[in-house]
Amino acid sequence: MALFAIGDFHLSFQTPEKSMDVFGAVWRHHEEKIKRNCEALVGPHDTLVITGDHSWGRKLAECEQDLTFIEALPGRKILLRGNHDMFWDAKRTASLNRRFAGKLSFLQNNFFAYEDYALVGTKGFTFEGPFYLDGQGRVIGWDEEREAHAKMLVERECTRLRRSLDAAVAAGFQKFILFLHYPPTNILEQKSPFTDIAEEYGAEQVIYSHCHGEERFHDSLQGVVRGITYRLVSGDYLDFKPVRIL
Ligand SMILES: [Fe+2]
Ligand SMILES: [Fe+2]
Repeated sequence: MALFAIGDFHLSFQTPEKSMDVFGAVWRHHEEKIKRNCEALVGPHDTLVITGDHSWGRKLAECEQDLTFIEALPGRKILLRGNHDMFWDAKRTASLNRRFAGKLSFLQNNFFAYEDYALVGTKGFTFEGPFYLDGQGRVIGWDEEREAHAKMLVERECTRLRRSLDAAVAAGFQKFILFLHYPPTNILEQKSPFTDIAEEYGAEQVIYSHCHGEERFHDSLQGVVRGITYRLVSGDYLDFKPVRIL
């Protein structure tokens, strides 16, 4: 058994006008790379956590082929919500879990067991600017109205993350792997309410995605920080090869 993660498939089988091919060579036929790499690495008894931005479809009916593609990948698939996953209203998670029972699992306000670990998570959020720079590229200010709005979203996501962790704790779990769609910190931060929660509960790893393109890959924490391993798993960062977490 092994635990793998990857995120940001941005599939568009039913929304070809949204194809990611225009975003450079790494995205060209990326669904074929996903399929090939998952089939080479992930076994039928392994678990694959997919950290959000699954589909460009706006409604479930527009995502059917994308979700069917994910279903056909090997192993147990656990999905996290991304900012583009319009088909997945947070309140409808239980109904998605019923509808896709035995095929896909949806992680939101709940947790899933992997050996003696609880896999917990939520979409997360972080203030991504706009930041104002000086001539040397140093940040000298930012949009404060947007920052205030971001704080509200961060608070709501922290509540959801605690709900996921507390459900795992109530079930007797003491070891946690924490999944976020958004990076846990922005380019100015070394800590955030999400890293605080990860430290409070003693999560071993924090896995996140959402950052696309070379210039964004180092926006947030990577490697061991205050005893926790942080990993970016956005698809283009990994060239669509899932990374082994455990
Ligand atoms: Fe994305
Ligand atoms: Fe995203």
